[in-house]
Amino acid sequence: VERALRDQHGRRIEYLRVSVTDRCNFRCVYCMPLAGLPWLPRETLLTDDEIVQVVRELAPLGLRRVRLTGGEPTLRPGLVDLVARLREVAAIEDLSLSTNGTRLAPIADDLRRAGLDRVNVSVDSLRPERIAELARRREPFDPIAALEAAQAAGLAPIKINVVVIAGRNDDELEMLAALTLDRPWHVRFIELMPVGELAEMEAATGRDPLALVVPSDDVLARLSAMGRTLGRPLQAGGAPARGNGPAAYHRFAGAAGSVGVITPMTHTYCGSCNRVRLTADGRLRTCLYGDHEVGLRDALRAGRPLGPLVHEALAGKPLEHALLTRRIGGLRALSEVGG
Ligand code: GTP
Ligand code: 5AD
Ligand code: SF4
Repeated sequence: VERALRDQHGRRIEYLRVSVTDRCNFRCVYCMPLAGLPWLPRETLLTDDEIVQVVRELAPLGLRRVRLTGGEPTLRPGLVDLVARLREVAAIEDLSLSTNGTRLAPIADDLRRAGLDRVNVSVDSLRPERIAELARRREPFDPIAALEAAQAAGLAPIKINVVVIAGRNDDELEMLAALTLDRPWHVRFIELMPVGELAEMEAATGRDPLALVVPSDDVLARLSAMGRTLGRPLQAGGAPARGNGPAAYHRFAGAAGSVGVITPMTHTYCGSCNRVRLTADGRLRTCLYGDHEVGLRDALRAGRPLGPLVHEALAGKPLEHALLTRRIGGLRALSEVGG
């Protein structure tokens, strides 16, 4: 029996987030510079065969869940075929996708038929113009049609990611939470991780980037107040059937969906971290933050086994991220590492 994937701190790794492209059609203020990033040259990107090979080799080591991320994963040509091939790896129990939703509606049925289980969709606002503003793109975008297409296609449970930014979208918490009253959707409010350009812009104007963070305890206090007003008190629990992540869930009494919080800033969940990431150019990255990576591409292209490299990577997986202690401005954009 091959050695299971455990890191040096005993954490069991069964979840791989695969960035299938570094490109994105959004430039979210908290993620990517307005000018974009120097895109990876095509020949350095892993091919479908290579991504499937990584997943096949990790499966006997205990890999059970795969999430496709980006950049924006729907920009990758042939995404549906890649999904179908990953679905053939029998050990993978949960195959999911994180997307901004702009290109989801036309391919939702195809993705489901190819074997995708579910989607998480970023929805930072319900106002199409505000989405455009936060994503710094010209066209407004209405996310509801994308969510409904995903639901009609059976990509369930549907999760919605809201990155909460003080003064930018925190006036919409209640509107977003209200989506869960009569739809089986799970809205997760994420504490902003103030990295990259957004943090630099704040710092440049003499403000503290941390002031943009709305602590999840404040979010929950507002949702509790909302529940009282509605006569539908907020109750702990209500987690969706499938999940790999660190969200903590609550439900308005009798609601079809749930509300959750993800708290990278105020309560780190690194102790129960179950994941590693594969960058679009084939580097296995052991933590969202920090620079610990081991390249797999050369071994893949030379036909060498990946197991030893993966164990080497896990031996260096940090105990927790350094977001609170390191100089925040120096950290990389999240789009490079799959969010
Ligand atoms: P589920 O399996 O549906 O629970 O998804 P998930 O939460 O694993 O994935 P998703 O792509 O929807 O990520 C949601 C948010 O969790 C991201 O926006 C990040 O803010 C945060 N997140 C995901 N992975 C990590 C991680 O490894 N470390 C930290 N600090 N935050 C993470
Ligand atoms: N802070 C918190 N969440 C972020 N995401 C991207 N950048 C950040 C950040 N700086 C989220 C996206 C998406 C998920 C994959 O990562 O909104 O929902
Ligand atoms: Fe795990 Fe690193 Fe994410 Fe913390 S920041 S949860 S250690 S991957």
